[in-house]
Amino acid sequence: MTSRQAFQAPKGTLDVLPPESWRWEAHIALFAGIARRAGYGLVVNPMFEDVGVFKRGVGESTDIVSKEMYEFDDKAGRRLALRPEGTAPVIRAYVQHRPTPPWKVWYATPSFRYESPQAGRYRQHHQVGVEAVGTDDPDVDVEVISILAELIAGVGLRQVDLRINSMGDSSCMPSYREELVAYLEEHEGELCPEHQARWRLNPLRVFDCKKQDCLAVRAGAPRIADALCDPCREHFARVEEGLTSLGLEYRRDDFLVRGFDYYTRTTFEFGALALDAAQNAIGGGGRYDGLVELLGGPPTPGIGFGSGIERMLLACDAEGVFPAPTTRLDAFVIDVTGGAVARDLTWELRQAGFAVDRSFGGRSMKAQFTVANRSGAPVALIIGDDELAQDAVTLRHLQGEGQHEQEVVKRHDLIGRLRDILSNSAN
Ligand code: HAM
Repeated sequence: MTSRQAFQAPKGTLDVLPPESWRWEAHIALFAGIARRAGYGLVVNPMFEDVGVFKRGVGESTDIVSKEMYEFDDKAGRRLALRPEGTAPVIRAYVQHRPTPPWKVWYATPSFRYESPQAGRYRQHHQVGVEAVGTDDPDVDVEVISILAELIAGVGLRQVDLRINSMGDSSCMPSYREELVAYLEEHEGELCPEHQARWRLNPLRVFDCKKQDCLAVRAGAPRIADALCDPCREHFARVEEGLTSLGLEYRRDDFLVRGFDYYTRTTFEFGALALDAAQNAIGGGGRYDGLVELLGGPPTPGIGFGSGIERMLLACDAEGVFPAPTTRLDAFVIDVTGGAVARDLTWELRQAGFAVDRSFGGRSMKAQFTVANRSGAPVALIIGDDELAQDAVTLRHLQGEGQHEQEVVKRHDLIGRLRDILSNSAN
Protein backbone atom coordinates (compact mmCIF):
# COMPACT_ATOMS: atom_id res chain seq x y z
CA MET A 1 0.00 0.00 0.00
CA THR A 2 1.25 3.46 -0.79
CA SER A 3 0.52 6.13 1.76
CA ARG A 4 0.02 9.62 0.46
CA GLN A 5 0.76 12.66 2.53
CA ALA A 6 -2.33 14.79 3.18
CA PHE A 7 -2.25 18.48 2.25
CA GLN A 8 -2.81 21.35 4.63
CA ALA A 9 -4.38 24.72 3.84
CA PRO A 10 -1.59 27.18 2.89
CA LYS A 11 0.12 29.00 5.75
CA GLY A 12 -1.87 31.98 6.96
CA THR A 13 -5.20 30.77 5.51
CA LEU A 14 -8.26 29.34 7.23
CA ASP A 15 -10.88 26.78 6.30
CA VAL A 16 -14.23 27.98 7.57
CA LEU A 17 -16.53 25.04 8.18
CA PRO A 18 -20.03 24.62 9.63
CA PRO A 19 -21.10 25.50 12.29
CA GLU A 20 -18.61 28.44 12.33
CA SER A 21 -19.55 29.25 8.73
CA TRP A 22 -23.18 29.74 9.82
CA ARG A 23 -21.94 32.90 11.53
CA TRP A 24 -20.34 33.98 8.28
CA GLU A 25 -23.63 33.54 6.45
CA ALA A 26 -25.45 35.47 9.16
CA HIS A 27 -22.82 38.20 9.18
CA ILE A 28 -22.82 38.69 5.42
CA ALA A 29 -26.66 38.60 5.35
CA LEU A 30 -26.76 41.23 8.11
CA PHE A 31 -24.36 43.42 6.16
CA ALA A 32 -26.19 42.90 2.85
CA GLY A 33 -29.42 44.05 4.52
CA ILE A 34 -27.82 47.16 6.02
CA ALA A 35 -26.19 48.07 2.71
CA ARG A 36 -29.40 47.46 0.73
CA ARG A 37 -31.44 49.63 3.08
CA ALA A 38 -28.92 52.43 2.50
CA GLY A 39 -29.21 52.13 -1.30
CA TYR A 40 -26.02 50.18 -2.04
CA GLY A 41 -25.97 47.45 -4.74
CA LEU A 42 -23.71 44.39 -4.79
CA VAL A 43 -20.55 44.63 -6.90
CA VAL A 44 -18.50 41.56 -7.80
CA ASN A 45 -15.02 42.06 -9.28
CA PRO A 46 -12.28 39.66 -10.36
CA MET A 47 -10.00 38.25 -7.66
CA PHE A 48 -7.02 39.39 -9.74
CA GLU A 49 -6.25 42.56 -11.63
CA ASP A 50 -3.47 44.07 -13.69
CA VAL A 51 -0.80 44.75 -11.09
CA GLY A 52 -0.88 48.45 -12.07
CA VAL A 53 -4.36 48.83 -10.54
CA PHE A 54 -2.76 48.40 -7.12
CA LYS A 55 0.66 49.89 -7.81
CA ARG A 56 -0.90 53.07 -9.09
CA GLY A 57 -4.12 53.03 -7.05
CA VAL A 58 -2.94 51.94 -3.62
CA GLY A 59 0.63 53.24 -3.99
CA GLU A 60 4.13 51.79 -4.27
CA SER A 61 5.14 53.22 -0.89
CA THR A 62 2.59 51.08 0.94
CA ASP A 63 3.46 47.81 2.64
CA ILE A 64 0.61 45.95 1.01
CA VAL A 65 1.90 46.78 -2.48
CA SER A 66 5.66 46.79 -1.92
CA LYS A 67 5.91 43.77 0.38
CA GLU A 68 2.69 41.82 0.64
CA MET A 69 1.15 41.53 -2.80
CA TYR A 70 0.76 38.15 -4.51
CA GLU A 71 2.02 38.96 -8.01
CA PHE A 72 2.36 36.55 -10.91
CA ASP A 73 2.59 36.32 -14.69
CA ASP A 74 -0.21 34.49 -16.47
CA LYS A 75 0.51 32.15 -19.38
CA ALA A 76 0.47 35.08 -21.81
CA GLY A 77 2.93 37.05 -19.71
CA ARG A 78 0.46 39.53 -18.23
CA ARG A 79 1.59 40.82 -14.84
CA LEU A 80 -1.32 40.26 -12.44
CA ALA A 81 -1.89 40.50 -8.70
CA LEU A 82 -4.38 38.86 -6.38
CA ARG A 83 -6.40 41.68 -4.88
CA PRO A 84 -4.82 42.82 -1.59
CA GLU A 85 -7.83 45.06 -0.92
CA GLY A 86 -11.21 45.86 -2.40
CA THR A 87 -11.26 49.55 -3.27
CA ALA A 88 -8.90 49.84 -6.24
CA PRO A 89 -10.72 47.05 -8.19
CA VAL A 90 -14.09 48.74 -7.59
CA ILE A 91 -12.71 52.03 -8.87
CA ARG A 92 -11.11 50.29 -11.85
CA ALA A 93 -14.60 48.93 -12.63
CA TYR A 94 -16.11 52.41 -12.18
CA VAL A 95 -13.65 53.88 -14.68
CA GLN A 96 -14.24 51.01 -17.10
CA HIS A 97 -18.07 51.03 -17.01
CA ARG A 98 -18.80 54.68 -16.14
CA PRO A 99 -22.02 54.10 -14.18
CA THR A 100 -24.05 57.19 -13.36
CA PRO A 101 -22.78 58.77 -10.15
CA PRO A 102 -23.42 58.70 -7.29
CA TRP A 103 -22.57 55.01 -7.52
CA LYS A 104 -23.08 53.20 -4.23
CA VAL A 105 -21.91 49.58 -4.06
CA TRP A 106 -21.13 46.93 -1.44
CA TYR A 107 -19.00 43.80 -1.58
CA ALA A 108 -17.98 40.71 0.33
CA THR A 109 -14.61 39.56 -0.94
CA PRO A 110 -11.40 37.75 -0.07
CA SER A 111 -8.21 39.83 0.04
CA PHE A 112 -4.70 38.44 -0.18
CA ARG A 113 -1.69 39.85 1.66
CA TYR A 114 1.59 38.08 2.28
CA GLU A 115 1.74 39.01 5.96
CA SER A 116 3.29 37.30 8.99
CA PRO A 117 0.33 35.18 10.04
CA GLN A 118 -0.92 35.53 13.61
CA ALA A 119 -4.27 35.62 15.39
CA GLY A 120 -6.44 38.05 13.44
CA ARG A 121 -3.90 38.51 10.63
CA TYR A 122 -4.08 36.15 7.67
CA ARG A 123 -2.72 35.80 4.15
CA GLN A 124 -6.25 35.43 2.87
CA HIS A 125 -8.81 37.39 4.82
CA HIS A 126 -12.32 38.43 3.91
CA GLN A 127 -13.86 41.86 3.91
CA VAL A 128 -17.32 43.28 3.65
CA GLY A 129 -17.28 46.87 2.53
CA VAL A 130 -18.92 49.70 0.63
CA GLU A 131 -17.75 52.35 -1.81
CA ALA A 132 -19.75 55.51 -2.60
CA VAL A 133 -18.37 57.14 -5.74
CA GLY A 134 -19.25 60.47 -7.25
CA THR A 135 -20.06 62.82 -4.40
CA ASP A 136 -17.92 64.80 -2.00
CA ASP A 137 -20.86 65.68 0.24
CA PRO A 138 -19.63 65.21 3.82
CA ASP A 139 -23.01 63.68 4.68
CA VAL A 140 -22.02 60.65 2.59
CA ASP A 141 -18.96 60.29 4.85
CA VAL A 142 -21.37 60.14 7.76
CA GLU A 143 -23.57 57.63 5.90
CA VAL A 144 -20.61 55.36 5.17
CA ILE A 145 -19.35 55.50 8.77
CA SER A 146 -22.88 54.87 10.05
CA ILE A 147 -23.20 51.73 7.91
CA LEU A 148 -20.15 50.23 9.61
CA ALA A 149 -21.44 51.40 12.99
CA GLU A 150 -24.76 49.65 12.27
CA LEU A 151 -22.96 46.42 11.38
CA ILE A 152 -20.94 46.56 14.59
CA ALA A 153 -24.04 47.24 16.67
CA GLY A 154 -25.91 44.55 14.72
CA VAL A 155 -23.51 41.81 15.80
CA GLY A 156 -23.81 43.11 19.36
CA LEU A 157 -20.29 44.49 19.91
CA ARG A 158 -20.17 47.19 22.57
CA GLN A 159 -16.50 47.64 23.38
CA VAL A 160 -15.50 49.60 20.29
CA ASP A 161 -13.93 52.91 19.60
CA LEU A 162 -14.17 55.05 16.49
CA ARG A 163 -11.26 57.29 15.51
CA ILE A 164 -11.46 59.84 12.72
CA ASN A 165 -9.09 62.21 11.00
CA SER A 166 -8.88 64.46 7.96
CA MET A 167 -5.93 64.10 5.60
CA GLY A 168 -6.59 67.30 3.67
CA ASP A 169 -6.83 67.54 -0.10
CA SER A 170 -4.69 68.42 -3.10
CA SER A 171 -4.70 72.11 -2.14
CA CYS A 172 -3.55 71.83 1.49
CA MET A 173 -1.76 68.46 1.53
CA PRO A 174 1.30 69.47 -0.58
CA SER A 175 2.34 72.29 1.75
CA TYR A 176 1.70 70.09 4.79
CA ARG A 177 3.92 67.42 3.23
CA GLU A 178 6.69 69.96 2.75
CA GLU A 179 6.44 70.86 6.40
CA LEU A 180 6.54 67.19 7.36
CA VAL A 181 9.49 66.48 5.07
CA ALA A 182 11.42 69.36 6.66
CA TYR A 183 10.63 67.96 10.10
CA LEU A 184 11.59 64.39 9.16
CA GLU A 185 14.83 65.56 7.57
CA GLU A 186 15.79 66.95 10.95
CA HIS A 187 14.81 63.75 12.73
CA GLU A 188 15.75 61.13 10.13
CA GLY A 189 18.39 59.55 12.36
CA GLU A 190 15.82 58.93 15.09
CA LEU A 191 13.44 56.91 12.89
CA CYS A 192 13.34 53.09 12.92
CA PRO A 193 15.86 51.57 10.46
CA GLU A 194 13.17 50.72 7.89
CA HIS A 195 11.78 54.25 7.83
CA GLN A 196 15.21 55.84 7.81
CA ALA A 197 15.63 54.08 4.48
CA ARG A 198 12.08 54.50 3.12
CA TRP A 199 10.41 57.56 4.56
CA ARG A 200 10.94 59.72 1.48
CA LEU A 201 8.71 57.43 -0.63
CA ASN A 202 5.78 58.78 1.37
CA PRO A 203 6.57 60.62 4.61
CA LEU A 204 3.04 59.95 5.92
CA ARG A 205 3.83 56.25 6.18
CA VAL A 206 5.98 57.09 9.24
CA PHE A 207 2.68 57.75 11.08
CA ASP A 208 1.60 54.12 10.54
CA CYS A 209 4.77 52.73 12.09
CA LYS A 210 4.23 51.08 15.49
CA LYS A 211 7.95 51.08 16.45
CA GLN A 212 8.93 53.16 19.48
CA ASP A 213 11.49 55.22 17.51
CA CYS A 214 8.95 56.34 14.92
CA LEU A 215 6.27 56.93 17.58
CA ALA A 216 8.63 59.28 19.39
CA VAL A 217 9.38 61.24 16.20
CA ARG A 218 5.70 61.29 15.33
CA ALA A 219 4.77 62.83 18.68
CA GLY A 220 6.56 66.07 17.78
CA ALA A 221 5.55 66.14 14.11
CA PRO A 222 3.46 68.96 12.61
CA ARG A 223 -0.27 68.14 12.72
CA ILE A 224 -2.37 67.79 9.58
CA ALA A 225 -5.27 69.33 11.49
CA ASP A 226 -3.35 72.61 11.77
CA ALA A 227 -2.65 72.66 8.03
CA LEU A 228 -6.14 72.01 6.64
CA CYS A 229 -7.48 74.55 4.12
CA ASP A 230 -10.89 76.12 4.76
CA PRO A 231 -12.90 73.76 2.51
CA CYS A 232 -11.28 70.69 4.20
CA ARG A 233 -11.87 72.19 7.62
CA GLU A 234 -15.53 72.82 6.77
CA HIS A 235 -15.92 69.33 5.34
CA PHE A 236 -14.50 67.76 8.48
CA ALA A 237 -16.65 69.95 10.73
CA ARG A 238 -19.78 68.77 8.90
CA VAL A 239 -18.67 65.12 9.31
CA GLU A 240 -18.17 65.66 13.04
CA GLU A 241 -21.54 67.38 13.29
CA GLY A 242 -23.21 64.47 11.50
CA LEU A 243 -21.62 61.82 13.70
CA THR A 244 -22.67 63.73 16.79
CA SER A 245 -26.18 64.15 15.45
CA LEU A 246 -26.45 60.39 14.84
CA GLY A 247 -25.17 59.68 18.34
CA LEU A 248 -21.99 58.01 17.08
CA GLU A 249 -19.19 58.59 19.55
CA TYR A 250 -15.76 59.19 18.11
CA ARG A 251 -12.43 60.71 18.91
CA ARG A 252 -10.07 62.61 16.66
CA ASP A 253 -6.73 60.99 15.93
CA ASP A 254 -4.28 63.29 14.13
CA PHE A 255 -2.17 60.36 13.00
CA LEU A 256 -4.83 58.14 11.46
CA VAL A 257 -3.42 58.02 7.91
CA ARG A 258 -4.32 54.37 7.29
CA GLY A 259 -1.58 52.70 5.27
CA PHE A 260 -2.77 53.50 1.71
CA ASP A 261 -1.70 56.38 -0.50
CA TYR A 262 -5.16 57.06 -1.93
CA TYR A 263 -6.74 58.69 1.11
CA THR A 264 -7.79 62.34 1.14
CA ARG A 265 -9.88 64.19 3.71
CA THR A 266 -11.85 61.88 6.05
CA THR A 267 -10.25 58.70 7.39
CA PHE A 268 -11.80 56.52 10.08
CA GLU A 269 -11.26 53.24 11.88
CA PHE A 270 -13.23 51.19 14.39
CA GLY A 271 -11.18 49.30 16.99
CA ALA A 272 -12.42 46.38 19.11
CA LEU A 273 -11.17 47.07 22.62
CA ALA A 274 -11.54 43.42 23.63
CA LEU A 275 -8.85 42.43 21.07
CA ASP A 276 -5.09 42.76 21.29
CA ALA A 277 -4.27 46.35 20.26
CA ALA A 278 -1.95 45.30 17.40
CA GLN A 279 -4.80 43.56 15.55
CA ASN A 280 -7.89 45.30 16.82
CA ALA A 281 -9.05 47.18 13.69
CA ILE A 282 -12.42 45.69 12.82
CA GLY A 283 -13.03 48.07 9.95
CA GLY A 284 -11.71 51.24 8.47
CA GLY A 285 -11.81 53.43 5.44
CA GLY A 286 -11.86 56.92 4.16
CA ARG A 287 -12.22 59.31 1.29
CA TYR A 288 -10.15 58.95 -1.90
CA ASP A 289 -11.05 61.96 -4.00
CA GLY A 290 -8.10 61.49 -6.39
CA LEU A 291 -8.32 57.74 -7.01
CA VAL A 292 -10.71 57.68 -9.97
CA GLU A 293 -8.48 60.14 -11.82
CA LEU A 294 -5.36 58.19 -10.83
CA LEU A 295 -6.88 55.11 -12.46
CA GLY A 296 -7.67 56.96 -15.68
CA GLY A 297 -11.17 58.37 -15.06
CA PRO A 298 -12.48 61.92 -14.76
CA PRO A 299 -11.97 63.77 -11.44
CA THR A 300 -14.49 62.02 -9.16
CA PRO A 301 -14.60 61.88 -5.38
CA GLY A 302 -15.34 58.72 -3.41
CA ILE A 303 -15.36 57.17 0.03
CA GLY A 304 -15.73 53.69 1.48
CA PHE A 305 -14.60 51.18 4.07
CA GLY A 306 -13.59 47.56 4.44
CA SER A 307 -14.26 45.44 7.51
CA GLY A 308 -12.55 42.10 8.18
CA ILE A 309 -15.01 39.28 8.75
CA GLU A 310 -12.49 37.13 10.70
CA ARG A 311 -11.51 40.11 12.86
CA MET A 312 -15.12 41.04 13.55
CA LEU A 313 -15.95 37.47 14.60
CA LEU A 314 -12.84 37.31 16.82
CA ALA A 315 -14.06 40.49 18.52
CA CYS A 316 -17.49 38.86 18.92
CA ASP A 317 -15.85 35.83 20.58
CA ALA A 318 -13.91 38.13 22.90
CA GLU A 319 -17.14 39.85 23.96
CA GLY A 320 -19.23 36.66 23.93
CA VAL A 321 -21.72 37.96 21.35
CA PHE A 322 -22.98 36.76 17.95
CA PRO A 323 -22.41 33.05 18.64
CA ALA A 324 -22.85 30.41 15.96
CA PRO A 325 -26.44 29.11 16.13
CA THR A 326 -26.70 25.63 17.69
CA THR A 327 -28.77 24.36 14.80
CA ARG A 328 -30.15 25.46 11.50
CA LEU A 329 -32.75 22.69 11.30
CA ASP A 330 -36.43 22.68 12.15
CA ALA A 331 -36.84 18.90 12.04
CA PHE A 332 -34.94 15.67 11.43
CA VAL A 333 -36.72 12.80 9.67
CA ILE A 334 -36.04 9.28 10.96
CA ASP A 335 -37.36 6.63 8.59
CA VAL A 336 -36.83 2.93 9.36
CA THR A 337 -39.12 1.70 6.58
CA GLY A 338 -36.58 1.94 3.79
CA GLY A 339 -36.13 5.70 3.26
CA ALA A 340 -38.78 6.38 0.60
CA VAL A 341 -40.96 8.31 3.08
CA ALA A 342 -37.95 10.31 4.29
CA ARG A 343 -37.11 11.13 0.67
CA ASP A 344 -40.61 12.40 -0.09
CA LEU A 345 -41.31 14.03 3.27
CA THR A 346 -38.06 16.05 3.38
CA TRP A 347 -38.87 17.36 -0.12
CA GLU A 348 -42.44 18.23 0.87
CA LEU A 349 -41.40 19.99 4.07
CA ARG A 350 -38.55 21.88 2.42
CA GLN A 351 -41.00 23.07 -0.26
CA ALA A 352 -43.17 24.36 2.58
CA GLY A 353 -40.21 26.38 3.91
CA PHE A 354 -38.91 24.17 6.72
CA ALA A 355 -35.24 23.30 7.21
CA VAL A 356 -35.24 19.51 7.32
CA ASP A 357 -32.55 16.85 7.19
CA ARG A 358 -32.41 13.04 7.34
CA SER A 359 -30.02 10.11 7.42
CA PHE A 360 -29.07 8.13 4.36
CA GLY A 361 -28.04 4.55 3.84
CA GLY A 362 -30.80 2.64 5.68
CA ARG A 363 -29.26 3.02 9.13
CA SER A 364 -30.77 1.65 12.35
CA MET A 365 -33.25 3.64 14.44
CA LYS A 366 -30.56 4.11 17.11
CA ALA A 367 -27.99 5.37 14.63
CA GLN A 368 -30.51 7.77 13.07
CA PHE A 369 -31.44 9.09 16.53
CA THR A 370 -27.81 9.77 17.30
CA VAL A 371 -27.51 11.89 14.17
CA ALA A 372 -30.84 13.61 14.87
CA ASN A 373 -29.74 14.56 18.39
CA ARG A 374 -26.38 15.78 17.15
CA SER A 375 -28.07 17.90 14.48
CA GLY A 376 -29.68 20.10 17.13
CA ALA A 377 -33.08 19.90 15.38
CA PRO A 378 -35.86 20.59 17.90
CA VAL A 379 -38.05 17.72 16.67
CA ALA A 380 -37.66 14.29 15.11
CA LEU A 381 -40.28 12.99 12.69
CA ILE A 382 -40.26 9.22 13.03
CA ILE A 383 -41.61 6.83 10.45
CA GLY A 384 -41.85 3.17 11.42
CA ASP A 385 -44.17 0.44 10.12
CA ASP A 386 -47.13 1.65 12.23
CA GLU A 387 -46.79 5.23 11.06
CA LEU A 388 -46.46 4.02 7.47
CA ALA A 389 -49.67 2.02 7.80
CA GLN A 390 -51.54 5.00 9.32
CA ASP A 391 -50.12 7.60 6.91
CA ALA A 392 -48.78 9.42 9.98
CA VAL A 393 -45.50 10.35 11.66
CA THR A 394 -44.51 10.30 15.30
CA LEU A 395 -43.33 13.75 16.22
CA ARG A 396 -40.87 13.65 19.09
CA HIS A 397 -39.41 16.69 20.89
CA LEU A 398 -35.64 16.45 21.07
CA GLN A 399 -34.93 19.70 22.89
CA GLY A 400 -36.30 22.01 25.53
CA GLU A 401 -38.96 21.60 28.18
CA GLY A 402 -41.05 18.92 26.52
CA GLN A 403 -38.00 16.85 25.57
CA HIS A 404 -38.92 13.19 24.88
CA GLU A 405 -42.65 13.99 24.64
CA GLN A 406 -44.18 12.66 21.47
CA GLU A 407 -47.43 12.63 19.52
CA VAL A 408 -48.72 10.92 16.41
CA VAL A 409 -49.59 13.39 13.65
CA LYS A 410 -51.37 12.56 10.40
CA ARG A 411 -49.31 13.44 7.32
CA HIS A 412 -51.90 15.97 6.14
CA ASP A 413 -51.80 17.76 9.52
CA LEU A 414 -48.04 17.75 9.80
CA ILE A 415 -47.20 21.12 8.22
CA GLY A 416 -49.71 22.97 10.40
CA ARG A 417 -48.58 21.18 13.56
CA LEU A 418 -44.90 21.84 12.84
CA ARG A 419 -45.64 25.52 12.28
CA ASP A 420 -47.40 25.73 15.66
CA ILE A 421 -44.59 24.00 17.50
CA LEU A 422 -41.85 26.10 15.92
CA SER A 423 -43.67 29.39 16.43
CA ASN A 424 -44.30 28.50 20.08
CA SER A 425 -40.66 27.60 20.61
CA ALA A 426 -39.62 30.90 18.95
CA ASN A 427 -41.72 32.90 21.44
P1 HAM B 1 -7.76 47.88 5.54
O1 HAM B 1 -7.77 48.70 6.79
O2 HAM B 1 -6.46 47.46 5.02
O3 HAM B 1 -8.58 48.75 4.48
O4 HAM B 1 -8.63 46.59 5.72
C1 HAM B 1 -9.96 46.67 6.17
C2 HAM B 1 -10.16 45.68 7.30
O5 HAM B 1 -9.81 44.36 6.88
C3 HAM B 1 -9.30 45.91 8.54
O6 HAM B 1 -9.88 46.88 9.39
C4 HAM B 1 -9.31 44.54 9.17
O7 HAM B 1 -10.53 44.35 9.88
C5 HAM B 1 -9.32 43.61 7.97
N1 HAM B 1 -7.97 43.11 7.62
C6 HAM B 1 -7.00 43.76 6.94
N2 HAM B 1 -5.91 42.98 6.79
C7 HAM B 1 -6.19 41.80 7.38
C8 HAM B 1 -5.48 40.57 7.56
N3 HAM B 1 -4.26 40.39 7.06
N4 HAM B 1 -6.09 39.56 8.24
C9 HAM B 1 -7.35 39.72 8.72
N5 HAM B 1 -8.06 40.85 8.57
C10 HAM B 1 -7.51 41.88 7.92
C11 HAM B 1 -8.79 48.39 3.20
O8 HAM B 1 -8.55 47.31 2.74
C12 HAM B 1 -9.45 49.49 2.39
N6 HAM B 1 -9.73 48.97 1.02
C13 HAM B 1 -10.69 49.99 3.05
C14 HAM B 1 -11.40 51.05 2.27
C15 HAM B 1 -12.48 50.90 1.49
N7 HAM B 1 -11.04 52.32 2.21
C16 HAM B 1 -11.88 52.97 1.39
N8 HAM B 1 -12.73 52.10 0.95
